[in-house]
Amino acid sequence: MSEHEALSASEFETLIAAAKSARENAHAAYSNFRVGAGLRATSGRIFGGCNVENATYGLTICAERVAIVKAISEGERGFDAIAVVADTDALTAPCGACRQLIWEFCGDVPVILANLKGKIEIVPMRELFPKPFDASSL
Ligand code: THU
Repeated sequence: MSEHEALSASEFETLIAAAKSARENAHAAYSNFRVGAGLRATSGRIFGGCNVENATYGLTICAERVAIVKAISEGERGFDAIAVVADTDALTAPCGACRQLIWEFCGDVPVILANLKGKIEIVPMRELFPKPFDASSL
């Protein structure tokens, strides 16, 4: 049984809307690939994140990690779902580094992948990250 609260369709929609809104703030000056994330804490608070690029390229931070560090720095510790939005036909899934961080703080949450045309897919984190290295590995 999942330790996460099951969200309603309208709660998923709210999270997608938060991701789209955060995406508007993306600093994607080098890739021009704008991504937004919406993260729902068990408190009910929703945190948005966008990708923040850098001229060194390597210091770029993805939208998902921005949303997570914002929430963690605000004292949140439990999460129910995360949404990722990009303007691509094939839905954009979190990169490897983001999967590691999502697993660390959110565990097996639903990951809502969406684009700007209304395409949506919900994938459990355990499917995106089937053999994790985490606290239980130490
Ligand atoms: N990016 C994200 O923000 N999240 C993802 O899930 C995939 C990639 C960003 C990083 C970089 O700014 C741009 O997209 C191109 O890789």
